[in-house]
Amino acid sequence: MSDNAKLDVRGESIELPVITGSEGEVALDISKLRAQSGIITLDNGFVNTGSCSSAITFLNGEKGILRYRGYPIEQLAEKSSFSEVAYLLYNKELPTKAQSDKFTEQIAKYASLPDGINGILNQFPATAHPMGVVSSTVSALSCFYPEFLNSEATDDIKNQALPQLMGQIKIIMANFYRKTIGKDPIASNPSLGYSKDFLQMMFGGEVDKEVAEALDILLILHADHEQNCSASTVRVVGSSHANVFASISAGIDALWGQLHGGANQAVLEMLEAIKKDGGDYKKFIDKAKDKNDPFRLMGFGHRVYKNFDPRAKIIKVACDTVLEKLNIQDPLLDIAKGLEEVALKDEYFVQRNLYPNVDFYSGIIYKALGIPTNMFTAMFVLGRLPGWMSQWKELREDPAAKIARPRQIYVGENERNYVDIKDR
Ligand code: SDX
Repeated sequence: MSDNAKLDVRGESIELPVITGSEGEVALDISKLRAQSGIITLDNGFVNTGSCSSAITFLNGEKGILRYRGYPIEQLAEKSSFSEVAYLLYNKELPTKAQSDKFTEQIAKYASLPDGINGILNQFPATAHPMGVVSSTVSALSCFYPEFLNSEATDDIKNQALPQLMGQIKIIMANFYRKTIGKDPIASNPSLGYSKDFLQMMFGGEVDKEVAEALDILLILHADHEQNCSASTVRVVGSSHANVFASISAGIDALWGQLHGGANQAVLEMLEAIKKDGGDYKKFIDKAKDKNDPFRLMGFGHRVYKNFDPRAKIIKVACDTVLEKLNIQDPLLDIAKGLEEVALKDEYFVQRNLYPNVDFYSGIIYKALGIPTNMFTAMFVLGRLPGWMSQWKELREDPAAKIARPRQIYVGENERNYVDIKDR
C-alpha cells in the first residue's frame, strides 16, 4: 500500500511516497528526494533507515518477535532442525521430505576441502583468532572455485553456494581447531546430521544426542536477523557483484566486532573477570553505568529489541538443560543470572530498555560443549551463514537492487589554494 507524505523544507514542499510493509511497518521512500530537491537525509549508523525491502526475517523489537519467513522462532527452535531452517530461509518455504533429503545430500557432497585450502589452514599459527582464519579461508575459496567469479549470480551458483559453504565452513572451523590442539583433523561424516557431524569433527568419539540438539537449537537461533551489521555488509559487498565468497567473508569480518557477534566471547571474558574479581557483579554494573568508563555490559542491549531478545529466553532454558545433562555446575552461569536479575531492576537499564541479547547466555553453552572461548564468534558464523546467504540471494535476485553507495554531508575545509612548503 502506498500514499504520500509531504515534506516542507526551506519554502519547498516535497511529496514522498509512503510504503507500508506486510506487518504494517511504514517507511518514507526517499529514493527520489535528492533529484527533486537537492536534499539528502543523514542518519548516523542507519538507526532509522531501511536499506531494502526483504521477505526473509521479521523482527518486532518492542514486542520481542522474531520470525523466519513468517514462522515464529519459538516453533522453529522446538520443532525444526538447523539444515531445515537453512533451506527455509534460502528457498522461502519449508522443504518437503524429498527436498530436505536432496539438500542434505548436496551439503554432504562438500565433506572435504581442496588440498590447497587445507594447506592454507596449516599456515596459520595455532594462536591465530578463528575469525581471521575463517574469514580469510572463505575468501580463499574463490581461488579454488573460479566458476564463482562470474559476476552474474546464475542458478548454478545460487544452487551450489549454500550447501557448499555449509559443508565446507564446518570443516574449516573443526580442522583449524584440531590443529590448535595438536591433533589430526577428523573426517566429516554428514550422515550424523549437521550439528552432530561438526561436534564429532571437533572432539571425536560419540556425541551425546541432547548435546547435538542443543547446538542445533543455537544454530537455528543465530540463523538470520534481518539487516544487522554483518548482513548489511554482505549486501553492500554483494551489491557490487563481487563473488559470494567475498561477500560472506566481509560479513564474517563485520560480525567479529565485540559490539556485534564478538559479544559472545566478550560476555565470557566479562563473566570470567567478575569471577576473578570475587564475583561482585554489582561493581561491574556500576562500571557499565558510568559514562566515564568505556566498559559496557556485554550481552546486554540491542539496536532493535527494546524488550527481551526472544532468542535469549530460549538460550537461557537450553543453558539450564545442557548444564544439567552434562552435570556441570558452572559458577559463570550463576554470575550471569545474578547480573541479569540486578540489571533488569536497575533504573539505568530499565530506562534504556537494555535486556539480555542473544549473546548473553550462548557463550555459557558453548563453554559447556567444550568450544574454546575464542571460537564462540566463529560459532555465530556457523549459525548465521544461511541468513547471510539468503540476504545475498534476495539482493542478487532483486531487479531494483542498486550498488550500495551512500551520500554524506561534507563538514571539512572550504576551497583553499596550495601553499609551498617554504611558506607554511
Ligand atoms: C548482536 O543487530 C542485530 O540484530 C545484531 C544481533 C544479530 O543477531 O545479528 O542481534 C547480534 O550483535 C547482539 C548485540 C551484541 N552486542 C553486545 O552485547 C555489546 C553490548 N551492547 C551494546 O554495545 C549496545 O547495546 C549495542 C551495540 C548492542 C546497541 O547499541 P545502540 O543501538 O547503538 O545503542 P546505543 O549505543 O545508542 O545505546 C543507547 C544507550 C546509551 O546510553 P545514553 O547515551 O543514552 O546515556 O544505552 C547505553 C548507551 O551507553 N547502552 C549500554 C549498553 N548498551 C547500550 N550501557 C551499558 N551497557 C550496555 N551493554
